[in-house]
Amino acid sequence: MSAIVKEIALITGANSGIGFEIAHQLLAKGTYHVLLGSRSTQKGSAALQELQSRNLSGVIELVHLDVQSDEHISEVATFITQKHGKLDILINNAAVAIPEGATERERLQTAFNVNATGPYLLTKALIPLLRKSTNPRIVNISSGAGSIGRRLFAESPMYRIQGVSYRTSKVAFNMITACLHVEFGLGIEQSDGEKIDGEEAKGKAMKVFCYDPGFTVSNLGPHNKKEFGARSAEETVVSIMEVIEGKRDEDVGKFIHNSGGYPW
Ligand SMILES: NC(=O)c1ccc[n+]([C@@H]2O[C@H](COP(=O)([O-])OP(=O)(O)OC[C@H]3O[C@@H](n4cnc5c(N)ncnc54)[C@H](OP(=O)(O)O)[C@@H]3O)[C@@H](O)[C@H]2O)c1
Repeated sequence: MSAIVKEIALITGANSGIGFEIAHQLLAKGTYHVLLGSRSTQKGSAALQELQSRNLSGVIELVHLDVQSDEHISEVATFITQKHGKLDILINNAAVAIPEGATERERLQTAFNVNATGPYLLTKALIPLLRKSTNPRIVNISSGAGSIGRRLFAESPMYRIQGVSYRTSKVAFNMITACLHVEFGLGIEQSDGEKIDGEEAKGKAMKVFCYDPGFTVSNLGPHNKKEFGARSAEETVVSIMEVIEGKRDEDVGKFIHNSGGYPW
């Protein structure tokens, strides 16, 4: 008997690392229709094939999505509107830690574009589809490296870690998450000038989370390997699934990790 597929989930940067594993664990549940976002059609097709070969019970589709491209963002919004008519879960996972660029200015611009501006514009484009869901959720995969509090705390493991472009773009992403939470998560619509409250607002409110996955094996950088102490993507994603599945709802609008929270 085929599983009942009821929730549509879009994951950006899902051809690799944590995003790929989120796709796997959602498909294993059997109740999700996964839209696997990939900026490379070649890598995306390989990831799709790999997941399909595992005979998991959910449904999967490949979505060509470079978050730096306004055209891709618009095409993805149109595709989801026409094919599914709603979106239940948006997982803004794609990021670069070592951005491309000939100069430091270009590298900073790339980091901000991929890690902050792109996810923000994508989210804005998908808000009308999320509003069609009965339980809309946005999970922004950030990083503990984007906590200003940890940067300034000498005893934090994040005190000595360098990388201004990644860190500052994640700080911006964190503020974007806070803005999305206030503007769309509390039922007080501000961005589009529409103000609603009361029961109608509650029905439309999105649950917005800022999540640090912790040091995990992936293709993010040369040190994201088991031998350097990174934990497996499988283990990391078990905790992300708790957020997706409503087990961390008391932490909505907060900057959280697998067992607690961080200062912004
Ligand atoms: N792994 C960790 O230790 C760790 C710790 C803290 C936070 N995080 C966060 O976890 C998330 C997932 O990273 P990961 O560790 O799984 O790294 P990863 O294996 O490198 O995955 C990142 C994904 O983002 C995609 N991507 C990069 N630029 C993109 C763009 N312009 N448009 C769309 N997709 C793009 C990559 O595509 P390509 O394959 O084409 O490059 C890849 O699919 C990131 O937000 C990262 O900041 C990871």
